[in-house]
Amino acid sequence: MTTDTTTKTTAPTPTGETVLDARGVTMRFGGLTAVRSVDLTVNSGEIVGLIGPNGAGKTTFFNCLTGLYIPTEGEVRYKGTVLPPKSFKVTAAGIARTFQNIRLFNNMTVLENVLVGRHTRTKEGLWSALLRGPGFHKAEAASRERAMELLEFIGLAGKAEHLARNLPYGEQRKLEIARALASEPGLLLLDEPTAGMNPQETRAAEELIFAIRDQGIAVLVIEHDMRFIMNLCDRVAVLVQGEKLIEGDSATVQSDERVIAAYLGEPFEGEPGEAEAAEVAEAEAAAEAAAAAERGTDSTEEPTDATAEADDSSETEADDSADDEDENDTDAPDPAQDDAPEPTTDADNDADKASGSGKEND
Ligand SMILES: Nc1ncnc2c1ncn2[C@@H]1O[C@H](COP(=O)(O)OP(=O)(O)OP(=O)(O)O)[C@@H](O)[C@H]1O
Ligand SMILES: [Mg+2]
Repeated sequence: MTTDTTTKTTAPTPTGETVLDARGVTMRFGGLTAVRSVDLTVNSGEIVGLIGPNGAGKTTFFNCLTGLYIPTEGEVRYKGTVLPPKSFKVTAAGIARTFQNIRLFNNMTVLENVLVGRHTRTKEGLWSALLRGPGFHKAEAASRERAMELLEFIGLAGKAEHLARNLPYGEQRKLEIARALASEPGLLLLDEPTAGMNPQETRAAEELIFAIRDQGIAVLVIEHDMRFIMNLCDRVAVLVQGEKLIEGDSATVQSDERVIAAYLGEPFEGEPGEAEAAEVAEAEAAAEAAAAAERGTDSTEEPTDATAEADDSSETEADDSADDEDENDTDAPDPAQDDAPEPTTDADNDADKASGSGKEND
C-alpha cells in the first residue's frame, strides 16, 4: 500500500453555493436514449434525491456525472468548472461516489480499502513509495490516521483489519461510503446505499448521511426506498424513461399525480401488498364458487341473472379483464372488487422497490 496524503479536509463551501450543475445531459446507447436532456443542480448543504422506476436512467446519469460515461450532449460543472470526462479527474476535482453493485477490494482489509480511496490526495510519487524514505513514512502514517478517523466515523474502526469480503452486506455498503469519503469530496453520489439493508441498518444509514451533510459535503442519492428518500432529502428529482419529470420538495413530489402514476403507486401509503392479495384471493374464490354454482344449475335463467347483476355493479368501464371474470362482481363488496386484480401486480412490483429491491445492474 503506497498511499500517502495530507489530512486535509473538505474545503468549506459557502452555504447555498451551487456545487453540481448538470445541464442538458443526454446519454444515448445506439438507438436507446437512457438519459434525455436532464438538468440538475445540487447546492452546498443539500441532500438531493434522484428517484425513478427501474431502468429510468438514474445510474447512467451518475455515470455521466462521474466521467464513466461521456454524455452524448450536455455539460457537467463542479463548483463552476466543467468536469473532465475521466473518473479519476472527477474524483480529484471533488466528486466521490459509491456503486449500485458494491465494488470493494474483497481480499484487502477494511483499512486498506479506505486507504485506496485516498490515492487522489496522495502527494508522494513513485520514487518516494519505492525508496520509502522518512517523507513517505510520515505521509503514510498521516494517511492511516485519516482512514481510521473515517472508519470511526462510519462505525467500522473495530473491523479495520478484517478482510472486506468477510463483512456483512450492510457494512460493505458503509465501507464503500468511507472509501468515497477518503478522497475528501465536496459532493458525494450514492447509488442505492441501502439496497439489501434491513430497516435498522437503513435508519443508521440515514443518520450517517445527515452526518456527512453536516460535515459540509453535499449529497446526491439514488434510492428506491421512498420512506428513506422522503425523510432524508431537501429536494427530490424524478426520472422517468430518461427524462426529469419533476423536481421539488418531498411533499410536492409525493403529491404529483404523474409521479404517483409513474412510480410511487401505493406502497408509500402503507403496506398494500398483503391486504390487496387477500382481497383478490377472496374474490377469486367467490368467483369460482359462483361459476361452480352456475354449472350445477345450468338450464334456466340463473346464469343470465348472475351476469346481469355483475354488469349492473361493474360500472361499465372497469371491465377490461371482466370477460371471463364477471363473476368476481357478484359477491364481493364493490370498492375492493373493481380494483382488486390490478393493484396486486402493481403493489408487488412497487413493494419490491419500496423495500430497496437490491437490484444491481450497473
Ligand atoms: N452501457 C450501456 N449500454 C447500453 N444500454 C445501457 C447501458 N447502461 C444502461 N443502459 C440502459 O439504459 C437504461 C437506463 O439504465 P440505468 O441502469 O441507468 O437505470 P436505473 O434508473 O439506474 O435503473 P435501476 O433502478 O434498475 O438501477 C436501461 O434501459 C439500460 O438497459
Ligand atoms: Mg441503477
